[in-house]
Amino acid sequence: MPKVLIADKLSPAAAEIFKNRGLEVDVKPGLTKEELIDIIGDYDGLAVRSACKPDADVIAAATNLKVIGRAGIGVDNIDVKAATAKGIVVMNTPFGNAITTAEHAIAMLFAAARQIPAADRGTQAGEWPKKAFMGTELTAKTLGVIGCGNIGSIVAERALGLKMKVVAYDPFLTEERATDLGVQKVELEQLLARADAITLHTPLTAATKNILSADAIQKTKKGVMIINCARGGLVDEAAVRAGLDSGHISAAAFDVFVEEPAKDNILFGAPNFIATPHLGAATTEAQENVALQIAEQIADYLLTGA
Ligand code: MLT
Repeated sequence: MPKVLIADKLSPAAAEIFKNRGLEVDVKPGLTKEELIDIIGDYDGLAVRSACKPDADVIAAATNLKVIGRAGIGVDNIDVKAATAKGIVVMNTPFGNAITTAEHAIAMLFAAARQIPAADRGTQAGEWPKKAFMGTELTAKTLGVIGCGNIGSIVAERALGLKMKVVAYDPFLTEERATDLGVQKVELEQLLARADAITLHTPLTAATKNILSADAIQKTKKGVMIINCARGGLVDEAAVRAGLDSGHISAAAFDVFVEEPAKDNILFGAPNFIATPHLGAATTEAQENVALQIAEQIADYLLTGA
């Protein structure tokens, strides 16, 4: 009977599915790398979220492993190259948390436009800071969506529902799909020049790394807002800090950082900067979805090879 290790905190529904499908399952979140290396040889399947990092050393020790399943979208915590070289399939769940992550981006957009966290802090400190905040109305403003795939397209739909205009930069977006979505497909330079707010929804790859570089940020409109709920490394954090300090960027709201956990980031304490700790996919609904989906996919693969 194939044996699966759940090495991150996943909804209990995942373990149930493995058992119901006749697989043996151990749930051991929070293992150190050494502990994982010691036991990984016993398993045919490994299910992770983002805390567990099956790197080349773990994969070298994984003598029976056939599949690594990521309950979520990004597989940047997994050494996919080492796994593939060893014939280990790496799979993810590209749809299970897309709505939830898109909703977080919209929440961050509103939080940035109205400075809700700072207003909350001041109010609860007894300051009644009514005169300290003057927000931006989102209706009729232009949202620039960088990456208009599963998550970006949901953000675009929500923004259109808020009566924003949406321009999208995505080399993979067809004109037909853009028309269906009601967005205008543009080049990056046009997006930078036109957007009142920019939101990122691409994976971190060699092509997207630093896509919002210092140079790109200089080409944005004065007062632009920047939202990043995708991956740290898409945006030059030092350039965003400089833009917030100078007032060129009116607000930024980031859920992701170049280094995570982000304990001491250059952006912390910058004016009109809002941070959340990689909460994009953190809803009960999304975590249930990704846990169910990854368990079914791993079970399918181990039991039928499909
Ligand atoms: C993902 O890649 O699915 C998200 O970033 C969520 C996460 O890692 O928790």
